[in-house]
Amino acid sequence: MERKNLGVLVSGRGSNLQCIMDACAAGKIPARVAVVISDHSDAYALERARQAGIPALAVNMRDYPDKAGYELYIVEVLQKHGVHLVCLAGYMRLVGPTLLGAFAGRIMNIHPALLPSFPGLHAQEQAWRYGVKYSGCTVHFVDDGMDTGPIIMQAVVPVYDDDTVDMLTERILEQEHRIYPEAVKLYCEDKLIVEGRRVRVRV
Ligand code: GAR
Repeated sequence: MERKNLGVLVSGRGSNLQCIMDACAAGKIPARVAVVISDHSDAYALERARQAGIPALAVNMRDYPDKAGYELYIVEVLQKHGVHLVCLAGYMRLVGPTLLGAFAGRIMNIHPALLPSFPGLHAQEQAWRYGVKYSGCTVHFVDDGMDTGPIIMQAVVPVYDDDTVDMLTERILEQEHRIYPEAVKLYCEDKLIVEGRRVRVRV
């Protein structure tokens, strides 16, 4: 099977990026992280990539006249590195038509809630404030909505009475680190079949 090239988009800490890089390096995913791009130059995720010897660069939206120009440059970088799949890993921006058009059906995201509940920012806190008894995380393909694309995989965690937002966030993150590499692996093994809103795993 051809080893795929991943492009990972980040904005901050990069713990999900780290799990994906580690799974690739360990041969658990038939892929390599070819390039990491951040919209913030001080993202620790860039440091993680460089430590692993992976090309890492910051692209600042303010350096471009508009979002299309910003995304066009990102598309060029991704294409230059032969990227097959784009993984959003704590990338805190909506993907616009330029990036979406260039990688249609080939962009994945991890979201820290059980979609379609609690899309958008601060999902863990939204769920905690709402008072749900269970929350979790979702890996999905990206479409033109906010966290609305076809769901690939979810994991559920309980919310306890004495939880703080931080405790819940940590419990969810543990599951993110498990299911994101797993979903990327299935994609790279050509095992994901998208039928409308449903994503099936080829057996
Ligand atoms: C993760 O919890 C991820 O699910 C979330 O940001 C965090 C990034 O952590 N993403 C979103 O909220 C996207 N809307 P990381 O940088 O350590 O992977």
